[in-house]
Amino acid sequence: MFDLLIANGQVVSPSLTITADVGIRGEKIAGIFEPGTPLEAYRTIDATGLYVLPGGIDPHTHYGMRFGNSVTRDHYREGTLAAAFGGTTTFIDFAFQEPGSTLIDIFRKREAEAKGQAVIDYAFHSGITDGSASTIREMAEMISLGVPSFKLFTVYREANLFVDDATLFAVFREAARIGALPVVHAENEHIVNRSTRDLLSQGNGAVEYYAGSRPRVAEIEAVQRIMLLAREASSAVYFVHITCKESVEAIRQARRQGYPVYGETCPHYLTLTDEVYQKNDGYNYIMAPPLRRTEDNHALWEAIRELSIATVASDESSWHTTDKARGKTCFDQAPPGLVGTETRLPVLFSQGVSQGKISINRFVALSATNPAKLFGLYPRKGILAVGSDADIVLIDPDEKIRLEVSNIHHGAGYSPYGGLKGKGVPITTISRGRIIMENREFIDHPGHGKFIQRSIKPEILAEPIIR
Ligand code: URP
Ligand code: ZN
Ligand code: ZN
Repeated sequence: MFDLLIANGQVVSPSLTITADVGIRGEKIAGIFEPGTPLEAYRTIDATGLYVLPGGIDPHTHYGMRFGNSVTRDHYREGTLAAAFGGTTTFIDFAFQEPGSTLIDIFRKREAEAKGQAVIDYAFHSGITDGSASTIREMAEMISLGVPSFKLFTVYREANLFVDDATLFAVFREAARIGALPVVHAENEHIVNRSTRDLLSQGNGAVEYYAGSRPRVAEIEAVQRIMLLAREASSAVYFVHITCKESVEAIRQARRQGYPVYGETCPHYLTLTDEVYQKNDGYNYIMAPPLRRTEDNHALWEAIRELSIATVASDESSWHTTDKARGKTCFDQAPPGLVGTETRLPVLFSQGVSQGKISINRFVALSATNPAKLFGLYPRKGILAVGSDADIVLIDPDEKIRLEVSNIHHGAGYSPYGGLKGKGVPITTISRGRIIMENREFIDHPGHGKFIQRSIKPEILAEPIIR
């Protein structure tokens, strides 16, 4: 007897699509059967015509983030509710060191904030902002708490987030020693600062000039430099939000040479270009790095098709549009980042799978399986297999997306994808056996989401093949 049976859907893994019935008992997947097998369950969902996929894993979110005077609108409760509507069942947020604080203190603080609030499961990357010897020593303790990935920013000095090359190198060396994955935002701080100052001093602070303040060379240089440091330290490295074709090429080459280098991109870098900065609401798209050109969109689609870029994350940052509007006349006054956990799967599916740019199997790899493997959640999560958590999203491939602000649940007050057309809507989301969104209706289970301890497999850190 199963608690829940999802019958007759198209069950997808990164390598296979089969028509099957998925039986759930308690929090786990208890069996996968050929349709027609006699099975009993307390409840059956007919998934005929639907895709049955591992729930999305978003490895890059910023809930309840402060930047300057702004705080994102969505904290763990609101943000994860929106994520559930978007078919995501696990997210990895950040616990960033504040001046004088330890990695462990900040991790415990963030964990306490999420506990009882998040409606889906969660984990944290530990964010290092101070490269002191005691911080480096603490990294091993974070591993024992189930936090084996460390985030570093090469920019945002004014927000106390920047780390220099010496800190990067020290973290990489320790990561290699203890079996951790460094996660890096790669832009050259000096080029960004100089370009920004020059534009502002010429009276060109309006949002239409924003892209020029963070030129592509800032990212390309940083990616290459950081790969060199990682290589010298014998460390793996994961680059967040890769935007341009030269960075993709550098990552591709490193991987071909056998270095464990992984890249992430986001739906906005696949589908939008820097032309948006000319629009009336161009300030909503102020993010770091900025949007690029059509040829970069193409290079990124190619990269996710062949998996030189391994994941598609949201970089969820739900600044309210009124905060973003400060960037209209002076782009450096807007908090950087775009809202996106809710739209991540619908945008990737409708613009990717529906349009034939990626297969449904690739979609699963990019949105769930690879994030799970890279960050140590697999096979508990990221795959529909017997014994795995019953984290499942049902996607209707024929349903038209509606991503106008009136149809979405985040609190940013705007939608970057309002005019986007296409098909592929998450209609039911199941987290550890509980239905939390069904037929586009939220079903609350207060305090349902829980912290998941992670541990990264040695092979992920040793070679660039994601098995
Ligand atoms: O502009 C961005 N991406 N904002 C969020 C913080 C970060 O850099 O990831
Ligand atoms: Zn970043
Ligand atoms: Zn981010």
